[in-house]
Amino acid sequence: MIGRLNHVAIAVPDLAAAAATYRGTLGAKVSEPVPQPDHGVTVVFVELPNTKIELLHPLGDNSPIAKFLASNPAGGMHHVCYEVEDIIAARDRLKAEGARVLGDGEPKTGAHGKPVLFLHPKDFCGTLVELEQV
Ligand code: CO
Repeated sequence: MIGRLNHVAIAVPDLAAAAATYRGTLGAKVSEPVPQPDHGVTVVFVELPNTKIELLHPLGDNSPIAKFLASNPAGGMHHVCYEVEDIIAARDRLKAEGARVLGDGEPKTGAHGKPVLFLHPKDFCGTLVELEQV
């Protein structure tokens, strides 16, 4: 059911330092910071040949990654995003399998303007999973 790996999101305490590490040390193609106030994050996109890395930094008071950074002060992997063709069909299948869909279970518009859902980390090997319809 899941398709390509769309991105891996890494929460970072210092966005400029993280961007410099990916641009300089790792030699990757790195975007300027993109504020996404609707999602409570500022994002630096790292373009790799086969996927993307998203460096996330909290923006505003109710950032969804603030708590994560409080317990992981050096930063860390926040979620992986897998592509699906039909997000409603994917959700219904996952619920039937007993997986927990976060929030009210209705897809939201994600950071790329496409419908997304998040799945409970405890059901997926301790990893927060984002599904994005492509
Ligand atoms: Co994401």
